[in-house]
Amino acid sequence: MADLISGLPGALGPTTKGVPRRIRAQKVEEEPITKPGVAETAAESEPPFHFSLRPQEIARHLGRFVIGQAEAKKVLSVALCDHFQHVRLTEAGQTAPFYQKQNVLLLGPTGVGKTHLIRSAAELIGVPFVKADATKFSETGYVGGDVDDLIRDLYRRSGNNIRKAEHGIIYLDEVDKLATREPGSGRDVSGRGVQTNLLKLMEDAEVPLVSPNDMTGQLQAAMSAMRGGVPTKETLNTRHILFIVSGAFSGMEELVRRRLLATPPNEPQRRRTALSIDALLAQTTTADLIAYGLEPEFIGRLPVRVACHGLDEDDLFDVLRKSESSLIHQYERAFGAYGIAVEFRDDGLRSLAARAAQEGTGARGLMTVCEQVFRDFKFRLPSSRVKGFAVTESLVRDPASTLRKLLGLKQAR
Ligand SMILES: Nc1ncnc2c1ncn2[C@@H]1O[C@H](COP(=O)(O)OP(=O)(O)OP(=O)(O)O)[C@@H](O)[C@H]1O
Ligand SMILES: [Mg+2]
Repeated sequence: MADLISGLPGALGPTTKGVPRRIRAQKVEEEPITKPGVAETAAESEPPFHFSLRPQEIARHLGRFVIGQAEAKKVLSVALCDHFQHVRLTEAGQTAPFYQKQNVLLLGPTGVGKTHLIRSAAELIGVPFVKADATKFSETGYVGGDVDDLIRDLYRRSGNNIRKAEHGIIYLDEVDKLATREPGSGRDVSGRGVQTNLLKLMEDAEVPLVSPNDMTGQLQAAMSAMRGGVPTKETLNTRHILFIVSGAFSGMEELVRRRLLATPPNEPQRRRTALSIDALLAQTTTADLIAYGLEPEFIGRLPVRVACHGLDEDDLFDVLRKSESSLIHQYERAFGAYGIAVEFRDDGLRSLAARAAQEGTGARGLMTVCEQVFRDFKFRLPSSRVKGFAVTESLVRDPASTLRKLLGLKQAR
């Protein structure tokens, strides 16, 4: 199990600080997920799945890193727990022939925590987990990757354990880029082809463990067959793999607004048109997603949908002040490496948040603003005798003169 999990952070980009090893270690010890009898037999060949978290515990864990997005946290926590319970029961011999997967679609503006939510959940997950951007795939697999590679990645991540891989989770980001809109705009027909290829995986497909394009793999498989090795299962079934997909779906709010205007009013039109982007996105329906350019069959296989809300100045302030993955830790670390202590005061954080809110790129705006404000500090201070400074409203408003003062004061001594 440990080898499975250890492979995850790299795949997800930078990991959040001090993530959940503590929780995982506690929980894993507490309650093995398979029934004792099954666990004993299974233990001969491979370790059983472990999972004892409840939805609220997962949501609490997500809350350490992700500010706001209560609904998304709820939906994700429930989907993950349901998936694990399903895996547990299946492993315990209780098959559910009519089980329907609760694949999840997360949508919402850019930079509000969609990917961050999944990344923060990733380390809690005791089954293999693979993340990829939908944009890297192409219909034929010749130019981009082949969607089947996702399944093969899952297999590798699970230490070449088919049983584990067959119960893994695949996270596909940027699915909105697969939409095919009017000719001349958006992605070309290839997006539709990728959606079609994904359909099979999301439902029930047998994926060969060796890619037909992988000549070396094919040769190795043939050699081992010739040597009369033990025949092994060469395909992986996707029936129980959970899919979580996300995308910014920019412009979706306009489609929803237009639909609401076109439908017979059951409330004054003024109110319906004055809805905020968040309120509009929260009302996204299957029809809107189809109008956006996704295939009905693709959308149909994503029954659980949740919209992430935009982040206002207060949220951004909390992202800086409360999130364990806050950017300020990165700056403290960067300056700390030169022996410079940075103190972030609340009025400074508030100003950074206010400026980031103007950017309109969610929490990503914080990075943009911090980069502008601290650029010269990062360049000049390491070679100075300054050993610390406070980030205040006046520093954020006029970084240049604060820096001059800081260096000037030091030089004057
Ligand atoms: N709600 C949040 N709470 C804490 N940090 C956040 C939040 N939203 C975003 N961030 C920070 O901003 C960064 C970018 O967010 P993220 O990658 O989740 O955006 P996204 O919603 O997936 O956007 P996109 O649609 O552009 O991919 C994250 O790495 C994280 O540091
Ligand atoms: Mg993202």
